[in-house]
Amino acid sequence: MKDGFTHVHEVPPPGAAADWTISQNWDAFTADEHAMWDRLFARQSAMLPGRASEAFLRGIDVLRLEKPGIPDYRELNARLMDATGWQVVAVPGLVPDDVFFDHLANRRFPAGNFIRTPEQLDYLKEPDVFHDVFGHVPMLADPVFADYMVAYGEGGLRSLKYDALKQLARLYWYTVEFGLIREAGGLRIYGAGIVSSYAESVFALDSDSPNRIGFDLARVMRTDYRIDDFQQNYFVIDSLDQLLDVTVNTDFAPLYAANDALPPIPIADILPGDVVITRGTQDYATAKA
Ligand code: PHE
Ligand code: FE
Repeated sequence: MKDGFTHVHEVPPPGAAADWTISQNWDAFTADEHAMWDRLFARQSAMLPGRASEAFLRGIDVLRLEKPGIPDYRELNARLMDATGWQVVAVPGLVPDDVFFDHLANRRFPAGNFIRTPEQLDYLKEPDVFHDVFGHVPMLADPVFADYMVAYGEGGLRSLKYDALKQLARLYWYTVEFGLIREAGGLRIYGAGIVSSYAESVFALDSDSPNRIGFDLARVMRTDYRIDDFQQNYFVIDSLDQLLDVTVNTDFAPLYAANDALPPIPIADILPGDVVITRGTQDYATAKA
């Protein structure tokens, strides 16, 4: 996940191209690394039917992600290209904002080229290949979500001339990483940060603690978030079309300025205009504080 779009480095590390990509070097992954992927995949995929969105589950299928081992991008990209024209490219870790936006705008999703160790099973700071590929790539096989991510990259590049990274990061956080969607069967997960986490996949849908609020673009772009624990607030879209329509058809430049004149919204606040789907107890966050 791209938490806060921090500039970790300014120039590509040795061995990386100017756009920060490296070879996946799939043949170099060890048996233990493939086994770690399989372990994470088995745990998540057993739990996700009835929890993950239709689009996500369809993506797992279309991309044949159930094949054992860390996916070989030569195979994965052939299927992904057929579905939506997207590609996964390997990068050493987090990349600078402008590089990240440029990849998205060109239908390339940068994925960290390492996998967590057994000690990091449930939490790690930088996104690994399991978070990036299992969490993000299934949604990129959906044509509407695929277009949203391109538009986000283009919007990101455009935003560099405004001072808007924080607002854009919040939008990414509350949709791409931690978004919920309302479907016929009830609320479902489409955010990669949830869907790649066993514990948050249960918490986000079942816990009484967090608020669940109808998605509102300007409101989301003002809302603080936490990177260290489960979210206290999830935003719910009615459909991927809704998300694409409202973001593509809104000119963000005046919105950035209008939002800048207002204070940020604290993590767990409920505002008078909110469409409240679940008013959370915040017990989980309070107990930890
Ligand atoms: N419409 C936005 C703009 O005017 C771009 C954007 C589209 C941003 C989709 C995020 C997601 O900059
Ligand atoms: Fe992510």
